[in-house]
Amino acid sequence: MRTLQWDSRRNGVDLVDQTLLPSESKRTLCSTVDSLVEAIQMLRVRGAPALEAAGAYGVVLAALEAQGDGGRFDALVERVRTARPTAVNLARGVERALEAARRAGGPGKAAEAALAEAERLCDEDVARNRAMGSHGARLLKDGDTVMTHCNAGRLATVDYGTALGVLRGAKEAGKHLKVVACETRPLNQGARLTTYELLEDGFDVTLITDSMAGVVLRSGRVARVVVGADRITRDAVFNKIGTYGLACLAKVHKVPFTVAAPLTTFDLELRARDVPVEERNRSELLWLGSKKNAPDEVRVFNPAFDATPLKLVNSIVTEKGVLQAPWGKAMARVGKWLKQR
Ligand code: MRU
Repeated sequence: MRTLQWDSRRNGVDLVDQTLLPSESKRTLCSTVDSLVEAIQMLRVRGAPALEAAGAYGVVLAALEAQGDGGRFDALVERVRTARPTAVNLARGVERALEAARRAGGPGKAAEAALAEAERLCDEDVARNRAMGSHGARLLKDGDTVMTHCNAGRLATVDYGTALGVLRGAKEAGKHLKVVACETRPLNQGARLTTYELLEDGFDVTLITDSMAGVVLRSGRVARVVVGADRITRDAVFNKIGTYGLACLAKVHKVPFTVAAPLTTFDLELRARDVPVEERNRSELLWLGSKKNAPDEVRVFNPAFDATPLKLVNSIVTEKGVLQAPWGKAMARVGKWLKQR
């Protein structure tokens, strides 16, 4: 079953509540813009491509809720678009469904047109992840150990995954892989989600804390690091906090560093220094579940993402193929691909 999908009987977005995993596998229904924005901000639905789909479905909810009131529709759409700032895919999903709604030529048809576009987007997401899987699989050999960070798997997409899609592609090509999953503090997407979905698929997976990555990379056991991305500019890859440190360690230990992301994650308009990085609530560091982790008075810094300069990246897998340095030339190719869509 897809990570998120439209429930036409109940008129809402039916999604896996990822805050409950791995203890409970439960789905929840978002039938208002409020509930969808809450689900996005609480990370019930998360991961750049899944946010793209959520953004598109958000336009459907906004059209249903606004009932022909254009001002209200615009305000609701804006709430979805700005629910989280770093993954460019969220705004891309909103834009795509919004254009379809506008083309529909009247409020009565807007929801229907946005929904048709959202469904197309979801089907495309699965198809492009599978394409990335087969391109990226060529970078991996039978017997390789791959390290990954955060969760860039089926749970972060409509289905199949980007970074974990590359691992799935290699497995489907008959290659046996071992995976090392970094825990990904503070919200532990690596521990809670990546190990969960890889074990479900029968991968050999080992969990480590983020601080163990250096030792493991130095051991020479890891053939490649493969991660996803939330936004790729001309100069950097934005991904879950900790990715930059991992890329530095990979460079020092001469382990190739690969990013897997669809073209909708590229943002050739902005430079890294202009990208808004989400800072999350201090409570995520002050508490470990229901247990206190630090004194209330302490100052907390909790950015959700970091920027990895392209000079630390060896390859980027897209649905069109694998990109490598020189990055100026590679980004010009991406620009052409984006225009053709
Ligand atoms: O805060 P999250 O869980 O939404 O962050 C997710 C990530 O950083 C993923 O690595 C990224 O979105 C790529 S998902 C295919």
